[in-house]
Amino acid sequence: METIRIGLMGLGTVGTGVVRILNDHRDDLTRQTGSTIEIRRVLVQNTEKPRDIALDSSLLTREAEDIVAADDIDVVVEVMGGVELTKGLIERALRSGKHVVTANKDLMALHGAELVAIAREHGCDIYYEASVAGGIPIIRALTESFSSDRIKRMFGIVNGTTNFILTKMSQEGASYEDVLKEAQALGYAEADPTSDVEGLDAARKMAILATLGFRMNVSLADVDAKGITGVTKEDIQYGKRLGYELKLLGVAERDGESVSVSVQPAMVRTSHPLASVNGVFNAVYVYGEAVGETMFYGPGAGSLPTATSVVADLVAVVKNMRMGVNGKTLSTAYKEKKLQSDDRIFGKFFLLLHVEDKAGVLAQITQAFAANEVSLESVLQQPNQENPKAEIIIITHDTNMSGMKNVIRELESMDVVNKIKSVYRVVG
Ligand code: NAP
Ligand code: HSE
Repeated sequence: METIRIGLMGLGTVGTGVVRILNDHRDDLTRQTGSTIEIRRVLVQNTEKPRDIALDSSLLTREAEDIVAADDIDVVVEVMGGVELTKGLIERALRSGKHVVTANKDLMALHGAELVAIAREHGCDIYYEASVAGGIPIIRALTESFSSDRIKRMFGIVNGTTNFILTKMSQEGASYEDVLKEAQALGYAEADPTSDVEGLDAARKMAILATLGFRMNVSLADVDAKGITGVTKEDIQYGKRLGYELKLLGVAERDGESVSVSVQPAMVRTSHPLASVNGVFNAVYVYGEAVGETMFYGPGAGSLPTATSVVADLVAVVKNMRMGVNGKTLSTAYKEKKLQSDDRIFGKFFLLLHVEDKAGVLAQITQAFAANEVSLESVLQQPNQENPKAEIIIITHDTNMSGMKNVIRELESMDVVNKIKSVYRVVG
């Protein structure tokens, strides 16, 4: 029986899970691939560190060359993270004919198109299922299961850390700062949580999903990203009262041949399936022209869930090796990229305004909406206890983004509007 020789780069959370699954599911994997999958070398930073897995310590190396330049490695499994160093290593592996499986969304969002091209040029596979939503098989669904359809819309809760924070704020009425501390203590949020809470991690994942779903190269720079650092418990409580849950939502939409991709905290109707995705779970809602509504739900991170996707990619590579079809996939991003302009991006909006409490204020405010042809669905006013001002919550009908930006500019210039406290997109 043929032996497929693996160079594993990284033995942390995901790498340990990969070793565990390769060991625990050995018989099934052998029967599915007709090959024995064997780890030949493992790249780590510290070879002396105690490991949470039984592994022959002679396999450990600190030299990446032992893997990327080795003749006895068929597939490189990259689960170490990082961008520039890792890109160089993966490029070298591909150029020397090694197939690559990676869980690295940072790398694939920034350099995916280039690496896929290098892989194809050298007759190699590069698979990255684990890079978006960990254990959820969303990449395979977009590239294979929906190949017959035209995707119109994808909404994703693709960051577990922020979903954990927003869920706790919603369920316990806690503040952002307190829940962030708790998430760090539990190990969900990193010591430096910037990439998660500023929406960058989700933006990277949405760039990957949009590229695959819309079949055009959508880059990270094309994603308009806003995180959750400005979300307050008041926003969440007002949303709940009106029938919404606040979620950090990736929104990718196609109108004709043009697309828009963004990440932002959004009010999701409680009746929408995404509203009940809680804690560290992820979900991606996909609307296809032919299939209609579908939703993919599951663990977006974690050792074994993420490793499940990594090893499934490995199985795909080994099956391709047996059939002699590595690197033969046709381009998935074959369309010219066209980004939608603001006046063609439509959505509903939720606004929370702090205003003067006197006659005529509401009329002035609603006039700003009317002047920009933004129609209102509901308006709620209530006194604010802390000072002699009032709070107004407005939910618009579907309107275009440029009209909404004009309204905000006008509101900002009004003496009677003390503060535009929050503006959120509304979904569902
Ligand atoms: P991790 O726990 O920090 O593990 C990283 C591993 O890579 C460690 O074994 C480390 O060695 C090794 N490493 C890092 N930099 C290295 C370098 N320059 N040279 C040699 N070895 C190096 O990371 P992780 O959570 O497993 O994440 C790995 C990748 O999977 C990342 O791209 C991440 O975005 C992605 N991912 C993770 C999850 C998740 O749930 N954790 C989910 C989806 C995707 P030492 O052990 O010696 O320190
Ligand atoms: N930091 C990411 C999250 C890990 O919170 O979802 C998985 O990519």
